[in-house]
Amino acid sequence: MINKIKALLQEVENMKAANAEELEALRIKYLSKKGEISALMNDFRNVAADQKREVGQFLNQLKETTQNKINELKESFDNVQTGNDDIDLTRTAYPVELGTRHPLSLVKKEICDIFGRLGFSIAEGPEIEDDWHVFSSLNFAEDHPARDMQDTFFIQHNPDVLLRTHTSSVQTRVMETQQPPIRIICPGRVYRNEAISYRAHCFFHQVEALYVDKNVSFADLKQALLFFAKEMFGPETKIRLRPSYFPFTEPSVEVDVSCFECHGKGCPLCKHTGWIEVLGGGVVNRKVLENCSIDPDEYSGFAFGIGIERIAMLKYGINNIGLMFENNLQFLKQFHE
Ligand code: PHE
Repeated sequence: MINKIKALLQEVENMKAANAEELEALRIKYLSKKGEISALMNDFRNVAADQKREVGQFLNQLKETTQNKINELKESFDNVQTGNDDIDLTRTAYPVELGTRHPLSLVKKEICDIFGRLGFSIAEGPEIEDDWHVFSSLNFAEDHPARDMQDTFFIQHNPDVLLRTHTSSVQTRVMETQQPPIRIICPGRVYRNEAISYRAHCFFHQVEALYVDKNVSFADLKQALLFFAKEMFGPETKIRLRPSYFPFTEPSVEVDVSCFECHGKGCPLCKHTGWIEVLGGGVVNRKVLENCSIDPDEYSGFAFGIGIERIAMLKYGINNIGLMFENNLQFLKQFHE
């Protein structure tokens, strides 16, 4: 009998189960009432009295070992619920590297937040546009030299399918479908066929702002710009308006902010002028309102467009626009909210 117990002991020590069902089968085989160990227990009665002590000890050891082994296997199944041996759930986890927001996203979000606080909502439009929305509706005459200035990418040599050169196209799309009051900002990507340099790229991003309502004046534009400049560049910031030209605004202005690096004293960032040009804008031309079926005698408005790359480069001291589009992690990881 001792030999039988020893053989079983070895069997039990080496026993393996691939899943819970196999383990249950083993439990039944050894430990159930009709199992092998119970059978040995029954036979124990017939063991000679002088051997009872020794055999009893072996028998107890066998029972205990079997129970422990089964518990041990059961535990391993409970921990690895998938039953997949390839996954070691006890291994230390790899550190999860959180991404950072792109500098353009940060600046875009900041601009949208500032105008959100003034009650502007976000509007979007397509990047592949037609002549009407990018040029004609915005008062670019057919032979207007300003069309050349925009370095347009045409698609398949079709003059009516083009990549938008500015987000002003979204103005038209909104005004065509909505009557005033209109208060929107339109962030988005624009394309121009320009030579790529450290300052210019063939695509970049703008945020367009448009406000049309009764009695909107140039003074409202100026006030909105001042508010934006102070929120964006700090409460000390001043603005300066210079006369400019856009077919879709009259009068038109280029807007400078006082240099936020030297506060007007003069430094390399502002090229020693104390001022930095940040955007263009103006009072919406009557013809544009007419083109969009808005009565220019009843309503007026202002619009302006901000280049996101330009603001981001100024704000973060980035000296090459190409860095924005390379997805170099070393560059991108520097930006935090
Ligand atoms: N669309 C002009 C540009 O791309 C900017 C602008 C927008 C000017 C709105 C005036 C009004 O340069």
